[in-house]
Amino acid sequence: MCYYSTNQQHAEIKAAPKCKRKPLILMLFAASLLFLSQPAPTDAVIEDVLDVIHVVKEVTTGILKAWDIVQSSPLAANIEFPLMREKQRKVLQRLKEVSRQIDQTEQQHAEYVALAIDSVTSYMNQNGPVIAKMNDITDTINRISSRYEQMKSYEPHQDKLEMATLIQFAEWTVSPNAHSVQHLMDRLHLTLLGGEDKINTSSNLLYQLASNYEKFSDQICLPQQSAQQFIYSLYADIALTELKGYTMMEFSWMMLRVYGKGNYTQEAELMRQNYEKRTERTLKPLREVMRRADRIVWRCDPPKHKAAVTYDEITRLLQGYIENEVDLNTDETCRETCSFYQATRSEGCFKELFCARQPKCSGRLFDCQFVDSDMWVCPSAQNSTRRYEYVEYENGRVLGQRGQCVRGTTKVDSWWRYLFWHCSYCFCMCDEQGLKSDRFFNLRESLSDVKRNRVVTGLRFVKLNRIFHLQIQEAELLPRGAVNESTLEWRKIDSYNIFDRDVKKGVDYHTLSYESRSIDLDDIYTDDNSYVVTGVRFRVVGAHLNLEARLSELDFRTGQLIQPEVNSFWKSNDNTDVSGDDRRKKIPLSNADLPTRTITTSIPISRHNQYIDFTYTGLDKDAAQSTVPFIDIQDVTSKPPVPLSGIGIYYKGRQGYGGFLAPKIITYDFTPHVIVPTKNKF
Ligand SMILES: *[C@@H]1O[C@H](CO)[C@@H](O)[C@H](O)[C@H]1NC(C)=O
Ligand SMILES: *[C@@H]1O[C@H](CO)[C@@H](O)[C@H](O)[C@H]1NC(C)=O
Ligand SMILES: *[C@@H]1O[C@H](CO)[C@@H](O)[C@H](O)[C@H]1NC(C)=O
Ligand SMILES: *[C@@H]1O[C@H](CO)[C@@H](O)[C@H](O)[C@H]1NC(C)=O
Repeated sequence: MCYYSTNQQHAEIKAAPKCKRKPLILMLFAASLLFLSQPAPTDAVIEDVLDVIHVVKEVTTGILKAWDIVQSSPLAANIEFPLMREKQRKVLQRLKEVSRQIDQTEQQHAEYVALAIDSVTSYMNQNGPVIAKMNDITDTINRISSRYEQMKSYEPHQDKLEMATLIQFAEWTVSPNAHSVQHLMDRLHLTLLGGEDKINTSSNLLYQLASNYEKFSDQICLPQQSAQQFIYSLYADIALTELKGYTMMEFSWMMLRVYGKGNYTQEAELMRQNYEKRTERTLKPLREVMRRADRIVWRCDPPKHKAAVTYDEITRLLQGYIENEVDLNTDETCRETCSFYQATRSEGCFKELFCARQPKCSGRLFDCQFVDSDMWVCPSAQNSTRRYEYVEYENGRVLGQRGQCVRGTTKVDSWWRYLFWHCSYCFCMCDEQGLKSDRFFNLRESLSDVKRNRVVTGLRFVKLNRIFHLQIQEAELLPRGAVNESTLEWRKIDSYNIFDRDVKKGVDYHTLSYESRSIDLDDIYTDDNSYVVTGVRFRVVGAHLNLEARLSELDFRTGQLIQPEVNSFWKSNDNTDVSGDDRRKKIPLSNADLPTRTITTSIPISRHNQYIDFTYTGLDKDAAQSTVPFIDIQDVTSKPPVPLSGIGIYYKGRQGYGGFLAPKIITYDFTPHVIVPTKNKF
């Protein structure tokens, strides 16, 4: 078991060594129980605040209590040495406990902080002043941290330490000179926030970072953090450093007092007020910046595209296909031009010419056109989903990329009939269903296991049995917006086959075709912070695949879904308007090359309320042999994993290339929980 609960009578705490998330809270409660030698007060309730803010409050409260050790004694310098040693031991013991709490929180955040810092350096290269400020902050953080490490190291060696060493350290820590911790903390604060109430001006570093993060996130591949998570990670780093500074100063006053160097009650009190005020002042702009920050997480392109690993394809939806006019009509005539045939079929195989030497398109043919009369065709391997590697016309035009032709080229020549009619070879698009054509989307819903309090934390596309599924990652919801990382898992896919009995087209899965091959690009989310995503599904609206998200109500403080079987609903963007002001706009895509051929990385192109059609690649670029956009199948999860307030499908790519379709996630909005904790009455 790893949970804690409160009831009206007393706080009850149970901890286990395996707790992964939030052990710090347990530690803090445990610490207060152990060390304060008083029953836990009934008002030690779980608060609506984020973990770092919570820790700051708990640690400072714990430190205050430590003053009891030193305050009970007389101030006189004539205090006996053994007693002094004993007090020193107690103070250092308490320090050890407090440090442990800080370290533990720091460890939990370390990975995410490192990610955030890395991305600052990668996207801020062009911004000199910001980089200078970041360096300044890093420098200050390092200086405070190294002094803090030094202080921690005194505890285990206290018996061998000279008294003078401790006194010297304490005096240095609180002295008012330019290298003291006091000064460093002031500097940290000023660099971070600028003057007071300058929330969106250039002097507020948090604001600058957040706005730049969004601005550059399109161009530079960033870690899997939303701008809001990124800001919070940086804040956590700074807040924990300030907490270290504060702790050092408090314990320094205590040590000085133990050794009879003075009263210091007044000094400590002043410093404490200062720290409290500063914390409150930081939270205000932090909340403001977090409120404005984007909460979207999307996956950048991988360093190298790999089929079936980072992307997958819809195959043979509409594919370039060469057919003679004589076979495009039932009368075996050649009286029209190729472009006359905009929707037809392959009706025969006149005299067993080229038509007999290639697999016939048994589906429908669309968009036929004339390119040139005579050509060499390079057929693809038997097991390929392509029909042709390339086609080279006598006039020099090449469709696709000419290379070595393994199976040997076939010469294909148009002919004249009675000098009047030219029986031309046309270039058409074949819409043929078959074993080589993967064009299915799952329509069954994917739900997180709400009975076990699981919520959706990530998404990815998966092609299984030729069907595309939107798979969900789920995890157990914990108090205050956290999820239990040891429960993270991808929920098993419903692995049916389209040929299975009682699997129905249009019910269980959707089949793309010439007429029905659009997919809506929407962000489906809620502004109501009491709901999180617990399911996804596709439905078909008109000829469009349309995304839906299931949202369920949660209790943020306890981390429980509230009767999810009752308090859940499906949300979607039902807009099918194609003409009005608020119409769904189509992303144009034609004549595109394979998205894997570009050397640049994709950037998100679509916005909410748009759609795109699956289509064939360009004639010249690929002989229209592939279907674009491709489907990005990388995991889309955030670091740290959090509940989601929404999900989306979007299109990313580059001009001239087919691009990728991919899911995105919208992280839960933590802004309302950036608040000053209520005062604890210890
Ligand atoms: C997290 O999940 C693991 C595995 O199910 C469980 O043992 C542990 O108690 C959970 N932790 C919390 C904080 O609920
Ligand atoms: C220390 O100073 C505080 C406030 O100035 C005073 O109330 C307290 O009595 C002093 N303690 C001792 C032991 O002199
Ligand atoms: C700060 O934000 C407020 C409200 O959004 C806006 O009116 C103001 O112009 C902004 N100031 C600067 C300097 O950007
Ligand atoms: C087709 O088969 C060849 C050899 O039989 C193999 O090397 C190649 O990888 C296969 N291609 C596909 C797309 O399966």
